[in-house]
Amino acid sequence: MTHRVQFESGESFAFCDDEDTLLRAALRAGLGFPNDCGVGGCGNCRFELVSGDMETLWPEAPGLSERERRRGRRLACQSRPASACVVKVRLSDEYRPAVPGLRLAARLTDRREIAPGMGEFTFHTEAPARFLAGQFAILHPPGVDGARAYSMSNLPNEAGEWRFVIRRAPGGRGSNAMFDRLAIGDAVTIDAPYGRAHWRGDPVRDVVCVAGGSGIGPIAAIVQAALRDGGERRIHVFEGARTEADLCFRKLVPGESPALVYAPALSAEAEGSAWAGARGFIHAHVEAHAFPVERCEFYFAGPPPMIEAMNDLLVMRWRAPLAQVHTDKFF
Ligand SMILES: Cc1cc2nc3c(=O)[nH]c(=O)nc-3n(C[C@H](O)[C@H](O)[C@H](O)COP(=O)(O)OP(=O)(O)OC[C@H]3O[C@@H](n4cnc5c(N)ncnc54)[C@H](O)[C@@H]3O)c2cc1C
Ligand code: FES
Repeated sequence: MTHRVQFESGESFAFCDDEDTLLRAALRAGLGFPNDCGVGGCGNCRFELVSGDMETLWPEAPGLSERERRRGRRLACQSRPASACVVKVRLSDEYRPAVPGLRLAARLTDRREIAPGMGEFTFHTEAPARFLAGQFAILHPPGVDGARAYSMSNLPNEAGEWRFVIRRAPGGRGSNAMFDRLAIGDAVTIDAPYGRAHWRGDPVRDVVCVAGGSGIGPIAAIVQAALRDGGERRIHVFEGARTEADLCFRKLVPGESPALVYAPALSAEAEGSAWAGARGFIHAHVEAHAFPVERCEFYFAGPPPMIEAMNDLLVMRWRAPLAQVHTDKFF
C-alpha cells in the first residue's frame, strides 16, 4: 500500500509500505527534510502532523522534550505514515542529499580489534559503495529495537567495501550486538549515505580534524580524502583517547605524509607511564594552537561533550565561519 505525503509548502511524495521512516523516505525521494543524527537524538527532524495518521516508532526518543511532545511535535526519523498525511516542516536545499540514499544487502566480511573495545568492521555489497567521505550509514544491529548510525571510515569505492569503527558502549544494546551477535558472513542491510559533515575538498584551506573515541572513524575517512586530493594544504589530526592503547588513527591511516600533522592527547593515561605526549582533553589541546580560522576547514566527530566543547571554542570564541565547521555528534 502507498500513502501520499503532502507538505504544506506544496511538495509531495509517495510513501510505500517497504519504506522505513518518513525522514528516510523523504530523503530518498530527493527532498531536503531537515535532519542530523537520523536516530532520534538531535531533534532536528521535528515536524507537525497537520492531518492523517502517523505511527511513532520510539515514543521516548530523546530528540523531543515532553513539552514538545505535548504540543504535538514529532520526529520524522521515528515516524511512519499510516494513511495519506499532510505535514508541516520547512524543507531546505541545505538538506537535499548530495548522494541518493540506498538500502543495500551487505555481508560482514572482516572484523578486527583496533583498540580495547573498539572494532573495525568491514562489509561488502554487490553494488559500489557510494558516499562522501565522512558520511554515515544506518544499520539495524541484530535482535535490537531501532536503528543505529555508524560512520564509514573508508573512502567510497567501486568494490562495494564499507568500513566502520565501532566502540562497544558500556551496557549499549546496539553496539554490543554488533560485536556479539554478528558473525563473519552474516547479512545486514546498509542504508546509506546520510550526514552533512562530509569532505568538502576546499583546495586552499588547511584541514583541522578532531576526533574523540570512535569519532576517529569518519575523521580517518576525511583524512584519506584530503591525502587523496593532494594540494598544498596541511592536514592537522587531533585524536583524543583515554590511554595510549586506545589510540586508533595510525591503525586506520598508516604511513607518513609531509602534509600530515598528527597530535594525540590522552585524558586518563597513568601518571608515570612511558607516554611523553600531550595529556588532557583534546579540545584543550586544540585551543593551544592558534589556528587562523579563515584559512581552515574544521571537521570533528565524537561524543556529545567533546562536540559541545569544540563548538564553543570554534563558533563562540574563535568565531569560525559556520560554513567551515563540519561536525557529527555521536548521540
Ligand atoms: C551521526 C552518528 C554517527 C555515529 N557514528 C558512530 C561510529 O562511527 N562508531 C560508533 O561506535 N558509534 C557511532 N555513533 C553512535 C552509535 O550510533 C550508537 O549510539 C552507539 O553505538 C551506542 O549505541 P548502543 O545501542 O550500544 O547504546 P544504547 O544506549 O543502547 O543506544 C544508544 C542509541 O541507540 C538509539 N536507540 C536506543 N533505543 C532505541 C529504540 N528503542 N528505538 C530506536 N533507537 C533507539 C538511540 O539513537 C540512542 O542514542 C554515531 C551516532 C551518530 C548520531
Ligand atoms: S534526525 Fe531525527 S532526531 Fe536527529
